[in-house]
Amino acid sequence: MLRRLHPEQPESFAFTAANQQWAQAQITKFPEGRQASAVIPLLWRAQEQEGWLSRPAIESVADMLGMAYIRVLEVASFYFMFQLQPVGSVAHIQVCGTTSCMICGAEDLIAVCKEKIAAKPHALSDDGKLSWEEVECLGSCSNAPMAQIGKDYYEDLTAESFGKIIDDLAAGKVPVPGPQNGRYAAEPLNGLTSLVEHDAGKPKYNASVDLATDLGDTVKRIDGTEVPILTPWLGKDGKAAATQTAPQPPKAPAPAKPAVKQAEEAKKAEAGESQPETLTSARDGKPDDLKLLKGVGPKLEQTLNELGFYHYDQIAAWAPENVAWVDARLKFKGRIERDGWLEQAAKLAAGEETEFAKRAKEDGTYED
Ligand code: FES
Repeated sequence: MLRRLHPEQPESFAFTAANQQWAQAQITKFPEGRQASAVIPLLWRAQEQEGWLSRPAIESVADMLGMAYIRVLEVASFYFMFQLQPVGSVAHIQVCGTTSCMICGAEDLIAVCKEKIAAKPHALSDDGKLSWEEVECLGSCSNAPMAQIGKDYYEDLTAESFGKIIDDLAAGKVPVPGPQNGRYAAEPLNGLTSLVEHDAGKPKYNASVDLATDLGDTVKRIDGTEVPILTPWLGKDGKAAATQTAPQPPKAPAPAKPAVKQAEEAKKAEAGESQPETLTSARDGKPDDLKLLKGVGPKLEQTLNELGFYHYDQIAAWAPENVAWVDARLKFKGRIERDGWLEQAAKLAAGEETEFAKRAKEDGTYED
């Protein structure tokens, strides 16, 4: 497919104030003379804001980075993730047409796009709300056929369910992403054959869908106000990002956290974290066997010990803000609540047995 600038272009482009601040902060991640390294994040943000990349947007990014316009156009026209023509004002739908999806019905989905949106890819629907294209494998083959809509995946589609999603989007709704046939994630179609004990008590949605519904920005244009603009690599005052007009090297470079992570952390801070009481070592040198808590294996037990937790009664006493504090320090988030550590710990501290502890003692089943 020939990728070139669209014949009709807007007069100008400008980042929103918040996106401009975000973009300036991104530039400071790179050392002097290497500002061009920020080209993809800035182009992507421009696309998130407008839906597509216009010539003024490309030139504006080039100006910000001190790059020749042609160099930025080369990047924008090389990567298919960048849209060089206007997309639907509500959503741009990317239908996977590669092997698994094709075998499982991608052609039916494309027929739905042709019927409901436009006969040709990259053309707008009559009301300008939707557009579509066929793309290569999006890595969700076990849930074929699928489509990416905005930022999220809609999987296990049929012509009927896909048509309903398109109708909903046109009506201003945002259908819940993820498998559309009742499947939770990518487990076998006829149900779990192993790890069945993990099925009970699982969250309503799988992690991707959970985050998608949490963020709520599936088809939303990003104006920069969605997540706090944190610039941890700039130091506490954040002045460099807010005031500089030309890109400057960071004084104390540090790896930046992804926006999603920033959002999660900001949320936690809002919810309030507070460090529970900790111990420097186990009382009388006799720690409890924390592996008798469902969801705690040898590695996690070691982590808990390093954080200062050795006993069931310590864990049983955690208040919600303490749970948030500990959770923020674990590799897999949400495990404390999901596995019910506090309830289990309270029982074990009282000398009672839990189902899991009984089983673990019998057959040595430990989790990590
Ligand atoms: S073939 Fe469609 S997601 Fe891989």
